[in-house]
Amino acid sequence: KASHEWLNQLPKVELHLHLEGSLEPELMFALAQRNNVELPFKSVEEVRAAYEFSNLQDFLDIYYQGANVLIHEQDFYDLTWAYLTKCKEQNVMHVEPFFDPQTHTDRGVAFRTVLNGIIRALKDGQEKLGISSELIMCFLRHLSEEEAFETLEMAEAYLDVIIGVGLDSSEQGHPPEKFSRVFAKARELGLKTVAHAGEEGPAEYVWTAINDLKVSRVDHGVRSIDDAKLMSHLAETRMPLTVCPLSNTKLCVFDDMSEHNILTMLEDGVCVTVNSDDPAYFGGYMTENFVALADALNLTETQAVSLVKNSIEASFANEQRKAEML
Ligand code: HPA
Ligand code: ZN
Repeated sequence: KASHEWLNQLPKVELHLHLEGSLEPELMFALAQRNNVELPFKSVEEVRAAYEFSNLQDFLDIYYQGANVLIHEQDFYDLTWAYLTKCKEQNVMHVEPFFDPQTHTDRGVAFRTVLNGIIRALKDGQEKLGISSELIMCFLRHLSEEEAFETLEMAEAYLDVIIGVGLDSSEQGHPPEKFSRVFAKARELGLKTVAHAGEEGPAEYVWTAINDLKVSRVDHGVRSIDDAKLMSHLAETRMPLTVCPLSNTKLCVFDDMSEHNILTMLEDGVCVTVNSDDPAYFGGYMTENFVALADALNLTETQAVSLVKNSIEASFANEQRKAEML
């Protein structure tokens, strides 16, 4: 296979990345040792071997377990900083990461511990690496509306460093409208909204994310292809989809990358973007996701540039930063 160095050189933007999903096995082991946490694995190799998933839930079980090593503010700093240095190597100029506070507060880690570590690293990323960022807080959709409200309340002290809220975790059986009232409150607070929808769940969940949660972007959204009316609506309104190719094949949303629909949607005028989701678990960061499309679908340079332009259009960066990146 070709090296596709041009795809590493291409300046990129990432809009769908879970910080907890960027925890590499090496850092997981280092933090487990530092914090005296027992891991159910003997080696980094054993961890990597466990990363075979047949669906979203398979992955989530192991992803929440991995997050147990994150305890102190410095752990969240180290996690975020490792991701940003990877972004620098891959010419990613702007990022809008997600974090899942409930994964940590439910284990007794304070909200401020999580947030302070992350924002200190994002600030250093801006100052030392020139990577701009906006932070998005996600609610775990398998938990209750009440717990989401409690989480939103904790975020109210940090509205200057959180640009929006999102919705992740187990999709099927937890439709977007379960969180309509929480999202309405978030919008009242001036937060932007995004939501995972149409990853494993039906195209209907993409409609309700748009109509009930009033999202600015849909995360994944690849099942939209099942609904022709929805596809035209997405194209007409330029509703962005943050698509994650390697995630989709790792979690068997598509059996093979050659079957992925991202380039079909791009040609149909949908504002699709390329992202890595949980790179430590799915086998690659931004460059590897673009390379996978080049290998399986003959991604052209024109298409690659369009995908990045879509990300800039879809981003929450201010107009000045957007203009700089174009
Ligand atoms: N889907 C749902 N929840 C998640 C994902 C995802 O792709 N990654 C991390 N949490
Ligand atoms: Zn995701």
